Amino acid sequence: MFDLFEKWDGTPRPTESTSSTESASSSENTYQPYNPYPQNTNEKIFVVSLGGSVFFNEKLRAPEIAKFCEVLNELIREGNQFVLVIGGGRVARVYQAGAKSMGANNFELDEVGIAVTRANALFFTYGIDNSWRGVLTDPKEAERVLLLGKTPIFGGTIPGQTTDAVAAIIAELLGADFINVSNVDGIYSADPAKEPNAKLYKELTHTKMVSLLKAQASKPGAHTFVDPHAAAILQRSKIRSYFISGDDVENFKSIVRRAPEFKGTIVQTENTTTMNE
Ligand code: UTP
Repeated sequence: MFDLFEKWDGTPRPTESTSSTESASSSENTYQPYNPYPQNTNEKIFVVSLGGSVFFNEKLRAPEIAKFCEVLNELIREGNQFVLVIGGGRVARVYQAGAKSMGANNFELDEVGIAVTRANALFFTYGIDNSWRGVLTDPKEAERVLLLGKTPIFGGTIPGQTTDAVAAIIAELLGADFINVSNVDGIYSADPAKEPNAKLYKELTHTKMVSLLKAQASKPGAHTFVDPHAAAILQRSKIRSYFISGDDVENFKSIVRRAPEFKGTIVQTENTTTMNE
């Protein structure tokens, strides 16, 4: 269904040949390099889903948050724009376990999780020079805040999902890339914490990512590399996505600066050619 409404940016497809006379006579027919990924229209906007495991696990890593914010400030000065979506980490799990012991239902446990993600997100409003002062709650506000030249920062939004889904829906809205930053350095063939021989994928299509996710989610006690709701959004809009570790800020810079080499997994699907999955 979504293919029917797929965005087209006007760039001629290789199959839509125009005669050389037409091209030469029309000043509007200037050559445009063919972009096989037209769904990513905002090349300088990145929606970052920052997993709680990176800075909010065993202890609060405030100096590392400050360092990461400095890297973001540097990249923003270079002309890049970010939307940050911050996860809950261990604190969310501890608070949810406490609430569960008092009889909170699943909706209420999600509310507790959302409150913790928003508290975590506050740190980034202090560290990012041009941040919107306050944690945003409506994905549509991301666009308005970016237009004001500020950095929008989110935690969770509604029960029944995780912050990965918040980031995916904002990336879809903005036609931006999605960067998942966690304590794992990419997508593996199996959970690397449990299977040391698991293979790291450098590149995947969206279809392959979703089938890997399904296989891994079906295992008991599974902790998947992305929330299935988020994966469905990334797939339906073919959002270019990166999965990287939060330990290596130079690697993060390489991705934003579009360096050819980086550590991690890129998920992308060409619009017109079938990639070998
Ligand atoms: P996280 O996004 O951190 O969940 O949100 P997670 O992926 O399970 O955590 P990590 O990355 O492994 O540490 C924390 C919790 O907050 C609730 C969910 O209960 C989630 O597990 N939440 C978050 C929502 O209900 N809605 C949201 O939009 C975001």
